[in-house]
Amino acid sequence: MRSVVLKARGLKKYYYSGENVTKALDGIDLDVCYGEFAAIVGTSGSGKSTLLHMLGGLDSPTEGTVRVGEKELNGMNDEELAVFRRRSIGFVFQQYNLVQTLNVRENIILPVLLDGGTIDEDYCREIVTLLKIDEKLEQFPGQLSGGQQQRVAIARALAGKPSIVLADEPTGNLDSKTSQDVMAFLKAGNQRFQQTMVMITHNPEIAQMADRIIRIEDGRIKTGAAGREEAGTISGKEAQAHVSGEK
Ligand SMILES: Nc1ncnc2c1ncn2[C@@H]1O[C@H](COP(=O)(O)OP(=O)(O)O)[C@@H](O)[C@H]1O
Ligand SMILES: [Mg+2]
Repeated sequence: MRSVVLKARGLKKYYYSGENVTKALDGIDLDVCYGEFAAIVGTSGSGKSTLLHMLGGLDSPTEGTVRVGEKELNGMNDEELAVFRRRSIGFVFQQYNLVQTLNVRENIILPVLLDGGTIDEDYCREIVTLLKIDEKLEQFPGQLSGGQQQRVAIARALAGKPSIVLADEPTGNLDSKTSQDVMAFLKAGNQRFQQTMVMITHNPEIAQMADRIIRIEDGRIKTGAAGREEAGTISGKEAQAHVSGEK
């Protein structure tokens, strides 16, 4: 029986503008199991990015709860959330969010350094070689193509071996060969480190590589909400190791 590590209940995110309300998320119940690789699919504007942000504690819901391991995100202040994110989650954002004044190498190791962690040099070399950015390490984001910046963002997300990887169309700007290489590597990390992965993708071939496909429409889950019958509650020790990033 696999235990639940990401648990969302009654998640709503409403945006108000004058008389109008946009229901970006409109009642999401979702369980993701420890070590699971879940793909999120759905049309543009269906709420995928909003959901990913909520799961990673980047934004707070209008209603509902998110639990990661044994930690309830709703109860945390900004500082606690920032520490939690750095320790437990590797994000790959749609807009990359690279620091323009830092070079590629510095961008990649930044989250680990901010958290006072140590860099696994061999592992980082493996990542940048696979992502074919090993010759770009001294360059700045502004000198790179979109696809190259995307690969830097992926390297940054993986460098700290986070227990959870949340990725928003991580291969959206890559050619198909590079996409396949990146996906194979993400999948290997998922198996090698028991990384839990939630990935938004428009690419059906990539979605097929996941353990489960979650389909979102109009802020609601259409299919793939949970294997709740097989999902137990995570044990205290396991949750702690998972959330603190210990292996
Ligand atoms: N900060 C925001 N302010 C207002 N509306 C937003 C904001 N962020 C997202 N939305 C709206 O919420 C809906 C879902 O957006 P999003 O989660 O980005 O969709 P997706 O990632 O599936 O394309 C869209 O209608 C979008 O316009
Ligand atoms: Mg999006």
